[in-house]
Amino acid sequence: MKTIFDGTVLGAIPLKNRIWRSATWLALSQDGRVNDTIIRTYEVLAKGQAAAIVTGLVSISPMDESLPGGVCFRDDSDLEGHRRLTESVHRYGARIYLQAGMVDGDVNGWSREQIRTIVGHFGDAAERAEKAGYDGVQIHAAHFFFLSKFLSPAVNKRKDSYGGSPEDRARILVEILRDMRAKTRPEFSIIIKINASDFLPGGLEDRDFFTACKMLAVNGIDAIEVSANGTSVSGVKAGVNEAYFSDYADALKAEVDIPVILVGGHRSIEAMNRLLNETDIEYLSMSRPLIREPDLMQRWMDGDSRPALCISCNSCYRTDGHTCIFNSKKK
Ligand SMILES: Cc1cc2nc3c(=O)[nH]c(=O)nc-3n(C[C@H](O)[C@H](O)[C@H](O)COP(=O)(O)O)c2cc1C
Repeated sequence: MKTIFDGTVLGAIPLKNRIWRSATWLALSQDGRVNDTIIRTYEVLAKGQAAAIVTGLVSISPMDESLPGGVCFRDDSDLEGHRRLTESVHRYGARIYLQAGMVDGDVNGWSREQIRTIVGHFGDAAERAEKAGYDGVQIHAAHFFFLSKFLSPAVNKRKDSYGGSPEDRARILVEILRDMRAKTRPEFSIIIKINASDFLPGGLEDRDFFTACKMLAVNGIDAIEVSANGTSVSGVKAGVNEAYFSDYADALKAEVDIPVILVGGHRSIEAMNRLLNETDIEYLSMSRPLIREPDLMQRWMDGDSRPALCISCNSCYRTDGHTCIFNSKKK
């Protein structure tokens, strides 16, 4: 019988339970660098007993723009800030992954040479993340950000080896994974967050999703976090419509033999434990519930098993610094 409270080991990484904090862009950096407010936010999550925290999207290439208030990690100039961040999280026994991504880019216009340069930037980011004390990196290939567009036949119209068949559309991801592996120690953890669907006419289908995941598995990815476009579905209610992408993750487990993390709409212990036992999914990740209650896991460990208080209103996306409106101080 599996439960969310089980300790496990992912590759070489011990995890104290099965709950991850899914990547959440905090919108708290003024200059692309880590600051004390950001460190404090992750520290509180670590103290609240999330087993592993994935940072919000970190822009890793000078060929990219950045999210408003987003963190960048394109050179060594803020290594010290990232070191302080990883140390604060580790102090509470949690693991910390850097979400390596690109916001956007010219999927169809960039030359093969430019794509190879980008691949190198991802590899460099993994090397830098390891130096800064991260337990691993997560490649962001979901939610219609740059890498997920490569996967989509609705967007990727390239005629070279980076477009066309499902294998060719997934090629950039495999090249990134290989470059990251070549630049880090074997025990450094590399995972991916990937779209199972983009819900576009002529877009990503099961076959594309499975092919990409199988290629990544063969090339040594440590885990796959399953998401899809329109990720933060509103109106989730405990016991009613939780875990809205679970069919994709469940189907993926029939195709690959590596750990799968499922994100999206987890709100109650009961539903999560059921999912862990009725499927082969190993891990569950949460974003919005932990914005409202960063200590949710601690609350559950203490025996208060009421579902997450998050009402999935998505107002957190609109606040200045992505906080919960129920937690913001009245001015
Ligand atoms: C404010 C906010 C920022 C987010 N930023 C990111 C991000 O940087 N990278 C990412 O992969 N997903 C991001 N997400 C999506 C979440 O990781 C997650 O996939 C989604 O919210 C569904 O999970 P939930 O129901 O637990 O919130 C963000 C979500 C929210 C609410």
